[in-house]
Amino acid sequence: MTTAIIADSPRNNRFFARFASQPLIIAHRGYRAWYPENTFSAFTACLGRCRMIELDVRLCRDGTVMVFHDRSLTRTSNAAMMARGLGKTSLDLDKWRSDQLRCLDAGSWFVETDPFGTLGRSKAHRDRLVTLLPQRIPTLQEVLAWAAVHCMPLNIEIKEMGATRLNSQVVDEVTRLVRAAGMSGMVVLSSFNHDYLRVCQHHAPEIATAALQQHFHPRDLVPYLRSLGVCAYHPEDIITDQALVYTLRAAGMAVNVFTVNDPVRRRRLLNWGVTGVFTDFPDQKEVSCWGAELQEAG
Ligand code: G3P
Ligand code: CA
Repeated sequence: MTTAIIADSPRNNRFFARFASQPLIIAHRGYRAWYPENTFSAFTACLGRCRMIELDVRLCRDGTVMVFHDRSLTRTSNAAMMARGLGKTSLDLDKWRSDQLRCLDAGSWFVETDPFGTLGRSKAHRDRLVTLLPQRIPTLQEVLAWAAVHCMPLNIEIKEMGATRLNSQVVDEVTRLVRAAGMSGMVVLSSFNHDYLRVCQHHAPEIATAALQQHFHPRDLVPYLRSLGVCAYHPEDIITDQALVYTLRAAGMAVNVFTVNDPVRRRRLLNWGVTGVFTDFPDQKEVSCWGAELQEAG
């Protein structure tokens, strides 16, 4: 049966096999609690602290793949201030060209709002971060080139583009860039839009994929995931329990849970056997000392 062949194919096992020796700490949107999310300041800070970085991508008006979370530019850039001068009436990223997006500062909002309270706790960190400003919105091409140099595996989350005219292009463009960077074996593509994953499977079967899910689980979960051809399931923490983890791990699926900022909860999930956890506070050292303990428990 086709689905069984897909589920057992080497690409499905290879990507996460490299992390088998130790629990996987995945830096959510880079090092988001301490640096502006999805910027190079955050990605660079991850080196030596975690073994995989998660980031978000969406297409801008000219079809360039930008690394950015929200559809609207307002929360994490100074677009509202810059729009008038650039002749922009919309604050949605897909209405801006890449050259216009390059004029924006995607870092100062973080220093101004201190969303996790981390800068208030460390004046030295705040002062250092200020020297890194402004931070630009990176392109996926730039981040892939950087990750290739540093041998850093990436989880690229393809954001929903359904409400835009760019919907049909996004998967092709992302897979094209991953291949061009020689990063097919170092990337897992994920999305809440499972149709995108089907397209990935069809167009670029050598690139690993993961199904993102929140609020509830799809019916007949394991056969469903196999039908998508994914090697991993990325559930929201609140819908994750031990039975789910056991079932999926027994079926050979990797399970990576988002977003887990409580260290006690991280430890419980890893004890249950999840492959990894996404966190805004990535620090692989935290789990290195659990390695022996988890192996004993397992
Ligand atoms: O990939 C896990 C997580 O990033 C999904 O949610 O909203 O943080 O992109 P979000
Ligand atoms: Ca994400």
